[in-house]
Amino acid sequence: MTERILSRLMEADTVSGQSLSEELGVTRAAVWKQIDKLRECGFEIESLGRQGYRLIACPDSLMAPVVRRGLHTAWAGCEIVYRRSVDSTNRLARELAAQGAPHGTFVLADEQTAGRGRRGRQWISPAGEGLFMTLILRPQVHPSQVARISLQTALATAWAIRNTCGLDARIKWPNDIVCQGRKIVGMLLEMNADEQCVHDVVAGVGVNVHQRAFEGDLAQTASSLDLLTGKENSRAEVARAFLQAFEQTDALTPDALMHAYRECSATLGQRVRVSGNGESFVGLAVAVTDSGSLIVRDDAGNEREVLAADVSVRGLMGYA
Ligand code: BTN
Repeated sequence: MTERILSRLMEADTVSGQSLSEELGVTRAAVWKQIDKLRECGFEIESLGRQGYRLIACPDSLMAPVVRRGLHTAWAGCEIVYRRSVDSTNRLARELAAQGAPHGTFVLADEQTAGRGRRGRQWISPAGEGLFMTLILRPQVHPSQVARISLQTALATAWAIRNTCGLDARIKWPNDIVCQGRKIVGMLLEMNADEQCVHDVVAGVGVNVHQRAFEGDLAQTASSLDLLTGKENSRAEVARAFLQAFEQTDALTPDALMHAYRECSATLGQRVRVSGNGESFVGLAVAVTDSGSLIVRDDAGNEREVLAADVSVRGLMGYA
């Protein structure tokens, strides 16, 4: 009900309490309670007596009507599910996908209490600071082709940040976005498939937006959009730009997608150190394959395929 009232306030200059209570089939006191709830979330709403209510200012909210405003997509964000607090938008997205949520359903939260990172790590997700979003996809592809979605998610996020914040956002293989040598985005894709077909993929993206400082190891490696631009950025704007960019990447041929990915890569063409499975080697990152592996030419001239490992790029995030 809160989101329906917000939608009406965003559509019209003033909305009467009477018309809201009739439309929603609730008492005027119930409407008033919802208006108060919106005020608590930071919306500035003027009470004009008999004329009703007027929306004066919106905070940096991720509520569905705010994200939907000015969104021009065919399917991405066709349904928007917002939670003030959730354990993990990926977890919720998987639950919704299992219940039949359509391709393009978009899940957002202000706070995650158990945000999931890669390799079982935690993604610290304090209220109001980051953008925590997950897109539900139902690609008509064989499981072997699902790596394309990971490339699309990374590219769409980099484009969204470039277009909204003007930063030189780059993709560090496999799925981080870095800027000025620091990580600003992490991504976690989870797939539900059998041998023959992909039922759904949830593409989860965590963007550091309003953080002013990071603790522990992150202090040396992470940053946020606000710190890098020196201004306050809009989470809803980045979310919208992500949905729009994702649809653009969907239209790209495999060659065009790889070309665009290469242009945004922080890894390809760079010296890298690969560590994992008890070994470590250095070399030149030369390609990303259709299945998403990184090809690294080691110093003996052998091209090695890296599927799951930690890859540090010289000059980035502390690798000298
Ligand atoms: C990483 O370890 O770098 C990946 C982090 C992915 C975090 C995002 S935040 C939105 C979505 N929901 C989750 O629980 N995780 C992803």
